[in-house]
Amino acid sequence: MNPHLYRLAKSALFCLDPETAHHLTLTGLRLAESLRLIPLIAGARVDDPVTVMGLRFPNRVGLAAGMDKEANTIAAFGHLGFGFVEVGTLTPRPQPGNPKPRLFRCIPQQAIINHMGINNPGVDRGVENIRRTRRFHGILGVNISKNEFTPNREAHQDYLACLRAVWDVADYVTINFSCPNVPNLQELAKADSAADLLSLLKSEQSNLAQETGRYVPLVMKVSPDMQDAQISELAHVFLDCQLDGLICTNTTTSRCGVEGHPAATESGGLSGKPLYNRANETLEAFAQQLGGDIPIIGVGGITTAEDAVAKIKAGASLVQLYSGFIFQGPPLVREAANAIRKTCAAI
Ligand SMILES: Cc1cc2nc3c(=O)[nH]c(=O)nc-3n(C[C@H](O)[C@H](O)[C@H](O)COP(=O)(O)O)c2cc1C
Repeated sequence: MNPHLYRLAKSALFCLDPETAHHLTLTGLRLAESLRLIPLIAGARVDDPVTVMGLRFPNRVGLAAGMDKEANTIAAFGHLGFGFVEVGTLTPRPQPGNPKPRLFRCIPQQAIINHMGINNPGVDRGVENIRRTRRFHGILGVNISKNEFTPNREAHQDYLACLRAVWDVADYVTINFSCPNVPNLQELAKADSAADLLSLLKSEQSNLAQETGRYVPLVMKVSPDMQDAQISELAHVFLDCQLDGLICTNTTTSRCGVEGHPAATESGGLSGKPLYNRANETLEAFAQQLGGDIPIIGVGGITTAEDAVAKIKAGASLVQLYSGFIFQGPPLVREAANAIRKTCAAI
């Protein structure tokens, strides 16, 4: 895509409040996709196929969860050059999320703070939307979690219900237990709770694989706000349970890098450039502990092609974009995919 075109669109969109801009963008993308305009403005997807978790990814750059929460814009994002798109987070029942405003830009820092609270249409509607709008020759991840008011002791029932509901439409399923905007959700990331939850999910995965003759990899998405000891304990749980993949990382509760910005006092998760170092430290720590046995998807703070390459060098097999895509626009997808292709070809 022509960078000038994106700069023009961005300056108009950044005049609007962030959530309105988000909805307008997704509506525009769906319209452009239905008129078959996106390939004309975005160009061809970078071809750099790679097999990870037994799945053939057309290239290593994906869209992170939370952008297409309703799973109804998949084809449009696919045409923007992503090799994979992760939709959701979806929960068993629809939920409105937190009161607005709940999404804030820190423009000079290329950062976003959000306390959306996993607003989503519920897993059944999400699956309907996927069936209707998939038209995407790439890999589709579906991110699932529990409903906000489901107590943690019953959380496994929500995750299991979602896993069953999305099984037929997902290429991989991500377990979101690291969102900082759902009270107490991260309690589930303590080693004992994670081991209980993961063994139930792995056993259901194996039942479903037997019933359907199709294996769908399970991926856990972790927080960047963990100490080394918790990373090490979790890594052991993941290895014991033969987890299929890991996403490093979700947003952080730290405000490091946005101090003094008016939005810094908002509660919730910080993403974008200021998250980059912490997300990479978490990625490196997990990569070291997992020793290559579980593939990692690196996300957090990628705003340049070099950032994306550095995640691969730090041990990621794939990367995802969110905030960088908002600030840099669609050109970042191709730039990152091309830079990774060149780097991997040279290794
Ligand atoms: C507005 C917003 C909403 C998000 N919603 C979700 C979500 O529903 N589920 C999830 O797993 N991650 C969600 N994320 C986290 C992103 O997927 C990603 O992990 C994080 O933003 C770090 O990447 P980035 O620095 O490139 O933005 C959200 C992030 C933002 C900014």
